[in-house]
Amino acid sequence: MHDTQDNDPVLCQLIASRIAAAPQQRITFAQYMDLVLYHPQHGYYARDKVNIGGPGDFFTSPHLGSDFGELLAEQFLEMWEILGHPHPFTIVEMGAGQGLIAADILRYLDRHHQDFFRALEYVVVEKTKAMRATQQRLLASQKSKADAPNSEVSSECQAHQAVKSQKQVRWCALEEIQDRSIVGCVFSNELVDALPVHQVVVVEGQLQEIYITVKELDRLESGQKEIKFVEAIGELSTPQLAQYFNLVGIAFPSDNYPVGYRTEVNLAALDWLTTAAAKLQRGYLLTIDYGYPASSYYRPARSEGTLQCYYQHRHHNNPYIYIGYQDLTAHVDFTALERQGELCGLQPLGFTQQGLFLMALGLGERLAALSQPGDAPLSLQQVLQGREALHQLINPMGLGGFRVLVQTKGLQETEEKRSLKGLRQF
Ligand SMILES: C[S@@+](CC[C@H](N)C(=O)[O-])C[C@H]1O[C@@H](n2cnc3c(N)ncnc32)[C@H](O)[C@@H]1O
Repeated sequence: MHDTQDNDPVLCQLIASRIAAAPQQRITFAQYMDLVLYHPQHGYYARDKVNIGGPGDFFTSPHLGSDFGELLAEQFLEMWEILGHPHPFTIVEMGAGQGLIAADILRYLDRHHQDFFRALEYVVVEKTKAMRATQQRLLASQKSKADAPNSEVSSECQAHQAVKSQKQVRWCALEEIQDRSIVGCVFSNELVDALPVHQVVVVEGQLQEIYITVKELDRLESGQKEIKFVEAIGELSTPQLAQYFNLVGIAFPSDNYPVGYRTEVNLAALDWLTTAAAKLQRGYLLTIDYGYPASSYYRPARSEGTLQCYYQHRHHNNPYIYIGYQDLTAHVDFTALERQGELCGLQPLGFTQQGLFLMALGLGERLAALSQPGDAPLSLQQVLQGREALHQLINPMGLGGFRVLVQTKGLQETEEKRSLKGLRQF
């Protein structure tokens, strides 16, 4: 059984104070999620401890090796060609986690596509200081290893030295980028599922919202108060929540939805998309994440919503335990991204699954190459591990079932007509 001692006590106290100071002594679920994930000192993503990957709570595609980043790099290369080789071509990576994708993309392009690499500008937009530090450490450590005098420097490290010497990766806030200044691609992998969501619930046919309140209990043994967060239901905190369902074309609530049906609304995703679209002058917005179109997201049978919590590679749906130590996510409504995109000048180019996207970009050839004797033959174990990683990236029941949405802005008619390799049937 979970004990409140498994929570970050300082974070709980901070949230309790925020609730005490709020009107009606309650905060929305979105405000709660924002605090537990992104409080600048105590939030889950503010911690120095590695929380993504093997020793963490969950892993993402780049943790399976460099193939994911390298295949994305192939897609960026084609975008650069379609746009007529602009210099610079800017990649804006949003929510870069540990920086693995950036490292893999830059290393691969430096080795294999020098022309494009020279034209490339790489900008990382990362919300938390701790994650920014991790990303900067990753790139810098590879450089310093490569710089070490008389050291036996691996070719990988040399590539990173080149990355550092020829290419400055820049970190900034999205708001700091000038509107209509980016020619290139704004992309994210598992960013949108990490944005704070509102939770709504159907009560007597009406749409209501879930709020968080605090209950202080006496702890008999220590005499201290124990903080417990409790849900309360109330009127919507903003009319945007009801308007959202008009945007995505879902009649909600209606008689089709059972009493107590609860789900999430990601208003932060709409704000993010609007801001990101405004930065683009000409190019692409590429969003990879898990989720569904609205018709599936908000089907009546999905009566508990999609909120998931990740703690040490186990998942469950209780956001009020392991507070500050577990990740909280909600699936992404891709219809909302498409509709909102259209409102801010983005054209939908394609919507597919990660498995198909990566296969079309050459993952199949990589699988086949693992079985071919190359210059440096691999051990049986390396071959099997390599295959397993590639299979995981395309497994439709796992990462391969993630969705890939590509939107464009400002393309000329001929450019717009050109589909991308990752979106083609193979
Ligand atoms: C689930 S992790 C994904 C990490 C990485 N993209 C990967 O594939 O491993 C989400 C990342 O998005 C960052 N993030 C969350 N909200 C953000 C925002 N509004 N702007 C920029 N980064 C954000 C988090 O700090 C974290 O680094």
